[in-house]
Amino acid sequence: MNEGKPAMSLSQADWSERLVFGIARVDAQHKQLFDLAATFEGSGDQIRVMKTLASLANYVRIHLIEEELLLERCGYPKLAEHKELHKHFKTLLQQLLAEANGMTLDQIAERVHYLINGWFYNHIMIADLDYVPLVKEHPEHQLLE
Ligand SMILES: [Fe+2]
Ligand SMILES: [Fe+2]
Repeated sequence: MNEGKPAMSLSQADWSERLVFGIARVDAQHKQLFDLAATFEGSGDQIRVMKTLASLANYVRIHLIEEELLLERCGYPKLAEHKELHKHFKTLLQQLLAEANGMTLDQIAERVHYLINGWFYNHIMIADLDYVPLVKEHPEHQLLE
């Protein structure tokens, strides 16, 4: 029934202007992840795909750390909840990294698409969107150092 595919079905979409919050650093990082995910479509070789997967996981890690720091500085009241969502996403990515060696390139591309164009897209549109008004009240925190 499940055949190793994610059980939950989410709406999936490519990056679009709808995802732009007007918070430059966050917007750039979100877009960068979609750009990187898009490179999995089409042909490639296993070594290159594994390397790209590792950099995707690394970019995700950096984005989540920076976003959490930003939210902490702005005093976002739902930070603990938001961190749990990030933790879940990191677990999904780690699972993929662990399983990718035994998967075909198409299967990897499909999982990456689910994670970024599905899970991450929905996270931006729902959970991230929720912090936008608060972060915009704190322009001094928007450029993290
Ligand atoms: Fe987030
Ligand atoms: Fe985010």
